[in-house]
Parts: sequence; structure tokens; C-alpha cells
Amino acid sequence: MTQTMALDTATALPVVALPDAQTVTGVRHWTDRLFSFRVTRPKSLRFRSGEFVMIGLPGENGKPLLRAYSIASPSWDDELEFYSIKVPDGPLTSRLQHIQPGDQIILRPKPVGTLVHDALLPGRRVWFLATGTGIAPFASLMRDPETYEKFESVVMMHTCRDMAELDYGRALVDSLEADPLIGEMVAGKLIYYPTTTRQPGVRMGRITDNLITGKVFEDLQIAPMNRDNDRAMICGSLAFNIDVNAVLESFGLREGANSEPLEYVVERAFVGDGI
Ligand code: FAD
Ligand code: A2P
Repeated sequence: MTQTMALDTATALPVVALPDAQTVTGVRHWTDRLFSFRVTRPKSLRFRSGEFVMIGLPGENGKPLLRAYSIASPSWDDELEFYSIKVPDGPLTSRLQHIQPGDQIILRPKPVGTLVHDALLPGRRVWFLATGTGIAPFASLMRDPETYEKFESVVMMHTCRDMAELDYGRALVDSLEADPLIGEMVAGKLIYYPTTTRQPGVRMGRITDNLITGKVFEDLQIAPMNRDNDRAMICGSLAFNIDVNAVLESFGLREGANSEPLEYVVERAFVGDGI
């Protein structure tokens, strides 16, 4: 690994011989609460789309301040992309939100996670169900050719409070059909179903409600979920994950894992206050 001297933009301290350092190559702020950024990829890093790694910055005590982050870029990409919340007093993101191209972050190259194709039995249709920054692992999976090789159709349901919070996912989906690598695979297979819950939008409602009432099946003119055809991956707050698990179970789907593939898998988008 190349070690370069750089200034940490948040602390203005020189970063010397940062272990596992990667260089920021781009940053985009989507709202005052959300941003995405890209960093160089360690040559040795192999990961499965949907996995997460630990990333961070040097802490005040010299120890790395690390947090779990889903890799939002697909496994074939030369760089790594992340999609992040900005927690005003958050130990990491109150500083991380100020990174700029050329800065360095710490990245522990040990990817793990349950939102991987290997944890699902073969099926015809896969549902990606996300709230908030929970769309990050699906930003990776939606760009992975394996997703379209394994499934005839892919339904991406993403729900946020406001329209602006959907922008990252919408821009990504819009860019996919023009993508030289997977544009043709995506066309006609990827169905995007974004909703808001607190600001009027084209479509509204919680994912749970839109599944229970059958609204999403009606809107998209598709068959309801069933165990034979459907597979799902879930990523949101703990409350969302618990509620949507119950909905999927009511359709007959069962929770699987890397060690025991079944019909759906779950991961938390973040660990909430005190949980
Ligand atoms: P923390 O002290 O970590 O969090 C403070 C509080 O902020 C939390 O108690 C919670 O209430 C809230 N919070 C934290 N993260 C979020 C979030 N993402 N959305 C809404 N509220 C939040 N975060 C991302 O932004 N993008 C990711 O791709 C991502 N992937 C994750 C994957 C896993 C498996 C896990 C467990 C967490 C993931 N997180 C992700 C959350 C991340 O690890 C940190 O919690 C987040 O970066 C905030 O760090 P912090 O030190 O500023 O605040
Ligand atoms: P709502 O606005 O009705 O609470 P948050 O910003 O709180 O993390 O929520 C992100 C999105 O997830 C919001 O649209 C929110 O809807 C929705 N949501 C939160 N909790 C649940 C839940 N238990 N089941 C379904 N959707 C949820």
C-alpha cells in the first residue's frame, strides 16, 4: 500500500502513515443529511456485492474511529462508493461529511454481510426493500450483472420521508439503462418503486403498508409475492426490518443466511439509539 502525507480536512492534522488508508476521489452532497463519496479500492479487496466494511478516520486518541458501511459500488468497479448519513453530533459523520477529494480515510478490507446472492435460494423475482441509507447495499446489487443473471425481474422499493432523500437512488436507477456494462441486462428487468411518507410525492406509503394492502402489486400490475417465485433482501432501521420480516413471513417467505440459503435476508442499515 502506498502511504502518502495528507491533511485531514476535519482536523487539519497531518495524516502520517495511516494504516489501511484510501484516497477520496469524489464527494457529492445530496441533502443536508446525506452524501455519497468514492475512494480508491485496495488492489487486494475482493467483496460480494451487498457486503459491508469498516471505514473511518483517525480518532482524537490516535485510535481509528471506525463504523460499518455498506459498499454501494458493485464488485467490478475500480473504486469504492459509499452513501452516508450526516449525524450532526455523530462521532464519525460529523467529521466525515467534510471530506474532500485527495483526503484519506481508513478502510479495513474485510468485507462481510448477509445481503448477498449466496444467501438466497434461486427464484424468479427478487425484491430489494430499503428505507433511508439502507439503499446502499442495493446500489451495489442493482449494478451487479449476477442480479440479472439470477432473476427474471428485480423490484427496488425505497422509502424515505421526503422526495429529496430519494434522489441518490433515483439518479442511480436512471443511470443504469445507459450503463455500457449492464444497461442491456437491466432494461425491462429492473422495476423501481420509490415512495415518500411525509411529503407528497408520485407514490406514497410505507413499504410494509404497500405490501400488505397489495398496492404495490396493483400499481405495477404484477403477481403478489409467494415462496416459490419470490426472494427478498431487506435493509433499514430495526423497526422497519422487524415489521417487514413479518410481512414477508405472511407471504410464506423464510429468513435465510449465508450458511442456510432460504427466501429472504436482512441487515440493519444502522444501529439505533441505545439498541
Ligand atoms: P453513530 O454514533 O454511529 O450514530 C448515532 C446515531 O445516529 C445512531 O444511534 C442512529 O440513531 C443514527 N444513525 C446512524 N447511522 C444512521 C443512518 N445510516 N441512517 C439514519 N440514522 C442513523 N450508515 C450509512 O450512512 N451508510 C451505510 O452504508 C451504512 N451501512 C451500515 C451497515 C451496517 C451493517 C451497520 C451496522 C451500520 C451501517 N451504517 C451506515 C451506520 C454507520 O455504521 C454509522 O452509524 C453512521 O455512519 C453514523 O456514524 P456516527 O459515528 O456519526 O454516529
Ligand atoms: P414514516 O415517515 O411513516 O415513519 P426514518 O427516517 O425514521 O429512518 O424512516 C425512513 C422511512 O422508513 C420513512 O419513510 C418511515 O416512514 C419508514 N419507516 C420507519 N419505520 C418503519 C416501519 N417500522 N415500517 C415501515 N416503514 C417504516
